[in-house]
Amino acid sequence: MAQRPYIVGNWKMNGTRAMLSEARAIDRAAQRHMKVEVAVAPPFTLVHAVHREAEQIGVGAQDCSPNADGAFTGDISATMVADAGAKFVILGHSERREGYGETSELVRAKADAALEAGLRVIICCGETLETRESGKAEAFVAKQLKVSLPKVEDAGEKISVAYEPIWAIGTGQTATIDDIATMHAMIRKLLIEIYGEEQALEIRILYGGSVKPENATDILGTAEVGGALVGGASLTADSFMSIALAATESVEG
Ligand code: 13P
Repeated sequence: MAQRPYIVGNWKMNGTRAMLSEARAIDRAAQRHMKVEVAVAPPFTLVHAVHREAEQIGVGAQDCSPNADGAFTGDISATMVADAGAKFVILGHSERREGYGETSELVRAKADAALEAGLRVIICCGETLETRESGKAEAFVAKQLKVSLPKVEDAGEKISVAYEPIWAIGTGQTATIDDIATMHAMIRKLLIEIYGEEQALEIRILYGGSVKPENATDILGTAEVGGALVGGASLTADSFMSIALAATESVEG
C-alpha cells in the first residue's frame, strides 16, 4: 500500500457518553500507529466530545445537510459539524441511500456543502447482492460514483471513496479478494478519468463490509485498497486497533 492507510470507524447509531472511554483508548492506541491515519465518526451527539478527547485521531460525522442553514427541522449542516470539531463527513452510506432514499444527486449536493465548510468527504458506494449476481456490480458502482463525486481541486487531499458492498455490511460476509481488487481497480480508473492522474492517485479507496481483525491483513494487502471503513468492529478499541495494527504491518511489510 503506497498511500498512508486510512482506517475509519463508523459508529453508526451507537454510543452515548459512556463510549468516550473507548474513544480515549482508540486515541491513545493510535499514537502507536503513526504510519496509519485513524479516524472515528461517532453519532452527531458525540462529535464535539470525541473531538475534545482526541489528540491523534480524526473525528468526523456520518452525514450532513446539503443546506447551509434555515428551516430544516432535525437537520445538521456541514458548518455545524465542522464547528463541533469534525474534520470529515461520511456521505452516501448505503444505510442512508436505502433507508432514506438518498440519491447520488443528493449525495453530490451534500458533498459540495461539506467541502464548502472545509470538511473532507468519504463518498460511499456499493451494490446489492441482486446487482452483483446479475453481473452489473461494476457498472452500478461506476454510475453511483460519477454522479456522487464532487468536482474539486485538490481532490486527492479532500476526497476518499469507500466501496461497501451492501450484502457484506454487518453480515460477517466479505467480498472475495478478487472481487475487491476488480472493483477497486475500476474505481481507480474512474477517478483518473474524473480528476486526472496526479490527484486521483492520492485518493484513498477504502473497503467496508465486515472488516474484522481476522480478515484485515488480507483485505488491506489487496491492490488499490487504501484503508477500511469499519462498522461493528470499530466499537471497541481492542478490535478497531487490531485492524489499525494490520494496516501498520501492511505498510511496514
Ligand atoms: P460492518 O463493519 O459492521 O459490516 O459495517 C460496515 C459499514 O457499513 C461501515 O460504514
